[in-house]
Amino acid sequence: MSVLKIRINPDPVLRKKALKVTNIDESVCRLIDNMVETLRASSGVGLAANQVGVPLRIVIIQIPDEELMVLINPEIIETTGERMVVEGCLSIPGYQAEICRAEIVKVKAKGRDGKLIRRKASDLLAQAIQHEVDHLNGVLYIDYLDDMSQLVKTAAGF
Ligand code: CO
Repeated sequence: MSVLKIRINPDPVLRKKALKVTNIDESVCRLIDNMVETLRASSGVGLAANQVGVPLRIVIIQIPDEELMVLINPEIIETTGERMVVEGCLSIPGYQAEICRAEIVKVKAKGRDGKLIRRKASDLLAQAIQHEVDHLNGVLYIDYLDDMSQLVKTAAGF
C-alpha cells in the first residue's frame, strides 16, 4: 500500500464529476487500500477518490473509534433537518468554516465486497457523507460560503 498525493484546491480534478464504478476489480481494490493508507497518514476523517486524482465514485470515511466505511457509487437518498457545522477539507489545508448541512442522511452505496449498503447516519458521519459525496460531484464546502472571508485558519481537515 502507498500514501497517495492529495490534490489541493484549485486542482481541476476536484471539480470533475466522478464516474460510476462499473466493476469492483483488482485496480479498484488497490485504489481503496491506498486511499485508506493516505487517509490514515492525514488528519482527515474522509477521502474521495478524486482527491487523489482518480475521478471515480469511491469515498472512504473513518470516524475516530468507528469502523472504516468504504462507499462505492454512494447516493444520498434522503436528508432530514439542518444544522450548522464546522467543516474543513484535506484539499483545502489550513482552513475551516461554518456551513449548514442536513442533520440526518440516508445513504445507499456498494461496499468493497460489492454488497449493497443502506445506512442512516447522523452527527459527524452524516456530515462526512455529505462532504464526500459533494467531492464526487465536484463540489467543495467553500462553495456554500457567501464570501471567502468566512474561512478561518486552522490545521484540521476532512
Ligand atoms: Co474534502
